[in-house]
Amino acid sequence: MIELKTADQIAAMRAAGAVVAEALEAVRTKAAVGVSLAHLDQVAREVLARAGATSPFLGYQPGFAPIPYPGVVCLSVNDAVLHGLPTRYRLRDGDLLSVDCGATLDGWTGDAAISFCVGHTSEADRRLLEATEHALAAGIAAARPGAHLGDVSAAIGEVARAAGYGLHTDFGGHGIGRTMHESAPHVPNDGRRGHGLRLRPGLTIAIEPWFLAGGLDAYRIDPDGWTLRSTDGSRGAHFEHTIAVTEGGPEILTSRSRPHAS
Ligand code: MF3
Ligand code: CO
Repeated sequence: MIELKTADQIAAMRAAGAVVAEALEAVRTKAAVGVSLAHLDQVAREVLARAGATSPFLGYQPGFAPIPYPGVVCLSVNDAVLHGLPTRYRLRDGDLLSVDCGATLDGWTGDAAISFCVGHTSEADRRLLEATEHALAAGIAAARPGAHLGDVSAAIGEVARAAGYGLHTDFGGHGIGRTMHESAPHVPNDGRRGHGLRLRPGLTIAIEPWFLAGGLDAYRIDPDGWTLRSTDGSRGAHFEHTIAVTEGGPEILTSRSRPHAS
C-alpha cells in the first residue's frame, strides 16, 4: 500500500528532513583525522536530541540483521559502502566516509546520506563521489508527476554505467513517511524507462544510489551482519535524499531548513 501524502504531511516530513540535514552537516564538520566513528555517532545523537527527534536507525532490525542497529548513523569507510557500524575506528587522512542518517520528528521520518573524504581527496575518489552524487541528482530530476519509477532507476543506472562503476540493485531506495521503510515502493538503482509505478503528487520516497569504484558488482557482508563492502577492496560512495513528488516536480525534503515559499 502506498500512502500519498498531503501538503501538511509533506511539510512535517520536511521538518524531519531538516534535522537529518543538520545532523549530516554536523558529522561532516567533525569528521577529521583521528576522530572515531563512535564519536561521530554521538555528534549525530546530540543533534537529534536537541531537535526533539528520535532515530529510526537505532534498534532497527531488518530480516537480514543478526543484531539491532546500534547507532543513529551508518558510517562506512573506504571499501565499506553501506551500514557501517559506529566502531572505535579512528579516521585517517584520505579515508572515504559515507554517512547515512535518519530522524523521526512528530511521527514523520527523513533519511539521507552523504559521502566525502577526510583530509585529502584522491582524483579517483573525487570522480567516484561526483558520479554518485550526480546519479542522485539525475534520479531526483526524473521523479516528476506522470513519470514512472523506472525512469528514476534508469537515470541512476545510466550514470553508473557511463562512469564504469559497479552497481547493485539490492539495498536501493524506498517509500518513506510514517516509517523509514514503507512496504512500497522499492526504488532500485537500475531499471527501465517507462516501466514501473506511475509517479503521482504526494508520493514520498528515498532515492539512494551507491556505487563501487571497482566496476564489479559483487559485495559481501562483514561478520557483524551489517557492514556491506566491495569484494575487490575498491571504494564505494553513497548519496541519499528523501523527496516528495509534487505538482511542480520533485522536492528534496532532506535539506537544511529554509524560509517557506508561500
Ligand atoms: N538509508 C538506509 C536504508 O534506507 C538506512 C538504514 S540503516 C539502518 O536502508 F541502520 F537503519 F538499518
Ligand atoms: Co534509505
